[in-house]
Amino acid sequence: MNRFKLVVFLVAISMILAACGPAATEAPAAPAATEAPATEAPTEAPVADEGCAPNCEYADLVVGFLQTGSEGGWRAANTASFKETAEQLGLTLKFYDSQNDLAKQVAGFQQFIEDDEVNVIVMSPLEVTGWDQVLEDAQAAGKIVILSDRRIDGNEDKYVTFIGADFVEEGRKAGTEMCKLLEGSESKNVWELQGNVGAAPAIDRGTGFRETAEECGIVVTKTQTANWSVSEGKQVTEAWLKETKDVQGIFGQNDEMAFGAIEALKEAGLVPAEDVKIISVDATAGAFQAMLDGTLNVTVECNPLLAPQVYEAALAAMNGETLPKWIPSEESVFFMDDPNLQAVADGRKY
Ligand code: AHR
Repeated sequence: MNRFKLVVFLVAISMILAACGPAATEAPAAPAATEAPATEAPTEAPVADEGCAPNCEYADLVVGFLQTGSEGGWRAANTASFKETAEQLGLTLKFYDSQNDLAKQVAGFQQFIEDDEVNVIVMSPLEVTGWDQVLEDAQAAGKIVILSDRRIDGNEDKYVTFIGADFVEEGRKAGTEMCKLLEGSESKNVWELQGNVGAAPAIDRGTGFRETAEECGIVVTKTQTANWSVSEGKQVTEAWLKETKDVQGIFGQNDEMAFGAIEALKEAGLVPAEDVKIISVDATAGAFQAMLDGTLNVTVECNPLLAPQVYEAALAAMNGETLPKWIPSEESVFFMDDPNLQAVADGRKY
């Protein structure tokens, strides 16, 4: 190839490469249980210009996001929020699916620490402990760390901020509503289906529920993890029903586990939301359908659409701004007997 043609070829190649804007790319990880839809990854993610402060822009952000996994409707909405908002803002997102495995999430964290392109690590931690070493390594490597969705124990000096719900308050709301549902009931035996052991929402929702439920005489007679899933929620409830049917309420720490309990109650000849009052957390589309079907009494909202707040905090941190240690998300409570329930359901994003 003569010199002129070589120059033309190189110019053409560089123009093609420059056209690849920022995009969500799948961080090389252990094969994820559910491969997120492949996006047109740029041939080379931009190496963030660390010297951009205090005028960094979203295009300077390369976010390594450690997601828990894909355990249900709430998580799907949360993942979509991170991927869609990254595209909208023009930042580079490296997405890591931890497959609900703590060891994999820690490994993914280390991977992002060693990835020179990543300047901000965002994590939805599977459990509240197990992070001391990687947080120390991240600090030593000059990485900004932000917690999304779930808190961790201690280490406040090693992450910039936590953006997520007050899970204790969600539990309190559920307990308060269960008291209302069981008002006047002779017995107030309630069963609790918990999320995965060690997870902040499992610990904190249980704490908050007991704070308010016990004020009205509710007794939590059975509690067990059902790992956020429909199938385990059903299995655990079936086993309990084989022991006794003396239950007046079921608190599912998320919608999916409550759906499993509803199936088990029906198969045992009990009428969910009537014979046994049901309260769950998340307020996903499935919960609105269950309330419209008359099988779920109440769902307490836990907002999964956190990405805009997370990315805004990441950019502020890149520009050297100081942030509050916790930026709580705003949430509501929804009721089966709301006359406008269909309209509310139609207006929701997830
Ligand atoms: O951290 C939020 C919780 O994680 C949701 O309530 C649950 O559905 C998900 O697994």
